[in-house]
Amino acid sequence: MEGTPGSNRLLRAMPNRSPYAARNPRALWVAAVLFVFAVVIALDPVPFRDVAPPAVPVPAWATDVAPVRQPSLVPQYKSAAYTYRCSDCHAIIPSPEEPRRKLTQHTEIQLKHGINASCFNCHHPRNRDAFVDDFGGEIPWDQPQLVCAKCHGPVFRDWQHGSHGRTNGHWDTAKGPQTRRKCIECHDPHQPPFPPMKPAPGPDTLRMGLQDYAGHSAEHGPLRLRQDATSAAAASAVEEGH
Ligand code: HEC
Ligand code: HEC
Ligand code: HEC
Ligand code: HEC
Repeated sequence: MEGTPGSNRLLRAMPNRSPYAARNPRALWVAAVLFVFAVVIALDPVPFRDVAPPAVPVPAWATDVAPVRQPSLVPQYKSAAYTYRCSDCHAIIPSPEEPRRKLTQHTEIQLKHGINASCFNCHHPRNRDAFVDDFGGEIPWDQPQLVCAKCHGPVFRDWQHGSHGRTNGHWDTAKGPQTRRKCIECHDPHQPPFPPMKPAPGPDTLRMGLQDYAGHSAEHGPLRLRQDATSAAAASAVEEGH
């Protein structure tokens, strides 16, 4: 390589005292081109267009782990700003065999448990602070799942094994406790069918685009790729809460 005109020129061009650009006019071109690039970037003539539809935020209620009911698990009854134990009244009120008439007390309770229509299928006829088992014995008030187990054996078994209901807390029990939700934290014992739930917004992937929850017509089929106009319309529909 030594002796070629090119390398000599390169050696001569090595910076020493004076600035490189001042002695080599070609370096000015580099600076000028970089400056033009910088101006173009700053003016942003072709703004960035994200092809992904806007993210649908997951509403807070959809990730809330609190159960739908919070029963007190103590045999208390609130009436006219007073809190009583059930036995406060029931120890002095004789109970009929089974109230076939409309009750004058506890009128807020609407028993809609299908053919399970008797209060004493669950409540103890003599000790109102407890539930009743199949042999007339007492089930403590804080163990209501044993009441349900009398008639819902298979569901109770599923619940015991963790496939019905919900487990909260730690997967690895060495790291912390696990909590099993009791039946009545989800089901109202007097009206047990689970009320319909509003679904949270569906997944919003690049491939699917925004989903139209309102109509599942062929045009809005969930597995179809969508035109931009349609996803924009779907986006505004979701924002408007349709
Ligand atoms: C303020 C007094 C009072 C308290 C407290 C009270 N009850 Fe009652 N309860 C009554 C009265 C009075 C009746 C009967 C109403 C009737 O015959 O129309 C009744 C009726 C009932 C009945 C229908 C069967 C029967 O004995 O006639 C059930 C079941 C019952 N109560 C459960 C409870 C439970 C469970 C609690 C506690 C969570 C409770 N009650 C607390 C006053 C009370
Ligand atoms: C004495 C028996 C008995 C007990 C105790 C009992 N159930 Fe039921 N349950 C029934 C029967 C019978 C039905 C079906 C009602 C019908 O459709 O006529 C039913 C229905 C239900 C349903 C609705 C099922 C469906 O397909 O929609 C749920 C949920 C339920 N029970 C939960 C409970 C819970 C929770 C408890 C405990 C607090 C409980 N049950 C205690 C007898 C019982
Ligand atoms: C399927 C079983 C079952 C039947 C049938 C049933 N109860 Fe209950 N009841 C329960 C359970 C479990 C609780 C405790 C639940 C709670 O606190 O949410 C309860 C709670 C109550 C309470 C306390 C107040 C409240 O809302 O928590 C009253 C009062 C009561 N029941 C009255 C009645 C009366 C009156 C009848 C008959 C018309 C009846 N129950 C039928 C299971 C039953
Ligand atoms: C974390 C909430 C939760 C808990 C805890 C829970 N359930 Fe359920 N249960 C549900 C939901 C949700 C359904 C489905 C309702 C539907 O399909 O409409 C259901 C359905 C049911 C049904 C009717 C369907 C079937 O499989 O037969 C019964 C009966 C029932 N539960 C009983 C129980 C009993 C008994 C317990 C306690 C041992 C219990 N559940 C605990 C939420 C719960």
